Parts: sequence; structure tokens; C-alpha cells
Amino acid sequence: MDVPLSRRVTAATVCLLLAMAPLGGCEGPQSALHPAGVGAEQIANLFWWMAGIAALIWMVVIAVALYSSQPDRSSYHPRETAWLIIGGGAAVPTLLLGGLLVFGLTLLPESRSDTQVDLRISVSGEQWWWRVRYPGVDGETVELANEIRLPVNQRAEFTLSSPDVIHSFWIPSLGGKMDMIPGRTTRLVLEPTRTGVYRGACAEYCGASHAYMNMDVVVMEPEAFADWLRKQAAPARPPAGEKARAGRRYFLANGCGACHRIRGTGADGRIAPDLTHVGSRLSIGASLLPASPESFARWISHTELIKPDVKMPSFAMLPDSQIAAMAAYLSELK
Ligand code: CUA
Repeated sequence: MDVPLSRRVTAATVCLLLAMAPLGGCEGPQSALHPAGVGAEQIANLFWWMAGIAALIWMVVIAVALYSSQPDRSSYHPRETAWLIIGGGAAVPTLLLGGLLVFGLTLLPESRSDTQVDLRISVSGEQWWWRVRYPGVDGETVELANEIRLPVNQRAEFTLSSPDVIHSFWIPSLGGKMDMIPGRTTRLVLEPTRTGVYRGACAEYCGASHAYMNMDVVVMEPEAFADWLRKQAAPARPPAGEKARAGRRYFLANGCGACHRIRGTGADGRIAPDLTHVGSRLSIGASLLPASPESFARWISHTELIKPDVKMPSFAMLPDSQIAAMAAYLSELK
């Protein structure tokens, strides 16, 4: 059956437009194509060059295919065909791919670690959350979990590690990803260029809750960042209300302090997230639930429903009043 050339061109154009439609969803806090950092800008730049060249090649290939399928095509020229195959099949791809390789390699030194950094943060990939350590003002380490804050326009070097399985540290809006490998330390430098709240994710399959291992990333003005870090370094403030005071008692009596640490209380566990200022975080459970009393209560009573294979057991056997009091206490830990 013969389809006129104009209709085939129209069909090809519609296909191209449909293929580009998903690009409309590339905004948002976790988009590599809406960059807010130097590394992400370079990656987006590389992506658009590659996408543009790929679209151009696609159009040339489709044009050749349409031309060669013309029924009234006069004669076949072996010499021209041979040149088309050598040129289009070998020379052009070699030049284009070689050019893209060189272009990509020139971007690499910028994303690598060097000594010109303003801040060093160490992050450990745990199952399934992020242990984050900042150097405090007095040389003490400030530990928190699942939330990273950065001063805008400053270079932050991340020292990345993992105690058991491989994870991959990725904040798409700010830069490229980097594996976290047991027994090794990897490094990544990120330089955010825009204030805002972004989202990081684990980009390497690491177990049942790999998809539930995310983090909130807040890029702030340097003064606001310094103020935040000072507050994070302080010990937990004592609970104000009666309910929260009871919550602290239940927290300690139920043995939560064996795994969790709350600086300034008897809770000194190191295997689970540090909760000293957990109420100040944007979310809990590695960016799964908003940090509210309801979320804390839900988490304590139904950990395994919210995060499959989570190492923290659920405490559904506790009376609701105890869970509500502990949730009130944790929410107050600003
Ligand atoms: Cu951690 Cu996937």
C-alpha cells in the first residue's frame, strides 16, 4: 500500500512531538533538567547537546528512509550507496561520538573533588536512610539524618561511605551521582547556585526499601545556614509540656535510646538516626512522611508497613497514649 510522502512526514513529526511530551514533567525538586547547581548545569548542558544531535541524526535517518522507500525511485547507484554507508555508518558516528566523549570528559574535573572547598560533609548510606555528619564549630561532629542543608554558592565536598551494601548518592538538581561502596570512601563536590528545597535519592538498588531512601536538601543563604548549623550542634532542649515530658520518659523506658541518640538525654544509641533535632526536619523516615506528631505516631506503631524490611521494629503493642506522648516529644525536638 502506498502512503503519500506528505502523510509519512506528518506521522513522523507527530511521533517526535509525542516523544518529547514527557519533557514537560522535568521541573520540580528532583529534576536534573532544572538545575540548581554547577554540576547539574553541566550535566543538563551535555544532555541537551546529546538530545539535539540525536534528534538531528534521527531526522536525517528518517529522511533517508522515506527517500529510499519512494516507489518511483529511478535507479540504484552502487558507488553512491557505498559512500553513504561509509560516511553515514562509520565516519559521521565516529566523529560525533568522539566529539561527545571529549566534551563529556572535559566536564569531569569540575565534578571531582579538590582542595578548594568551603565545607566538608560526610554521608553514610544506611539501610535505608542517610547518616549525615557536619563538622561543628568547636571541632565536634554534628550528626543528623536524611536532611542536608547547604549554603548557596559555596563548594561542599561530600565524603561518601557505606557500612554494608552499595548505595548511590544523588541530588539531581545539584549535580551528578556517586556510588557509596563498603570498604571505600568516594568523594563528590556540589556547588548549589539557587536557594530552595530539593530532593535527593538513592540511585543504586540496595534492598527492599531502596525506593524509600530519599532525603530533603535545603539550599540556604550562608547566614541562615550558619544559624541552622549552630542550632543543630546544641543539645536537645527539654520538653515544655506535660505530654512531651511523659513522652521523653516513655522513650527512655521503652529502650529507644539503645539505638537512637538524643544529645542531652540518656539516649546514646548510634546505630539508628540521631534524633536530637528530629522535630526541626522537613520529614521523617527518609523523606517519607512530613515531620508531624501524627507521622511520628504512625511511624512508631507501623514501621514495617511504611518501610518494608526496616530494621526498627514496630511498637504497635504500646498503649496509644504512650505512642502519642512520644510523638509529641519527638515533634518538640526542634
Ligand atoms: Cu540505598 Cu538504594
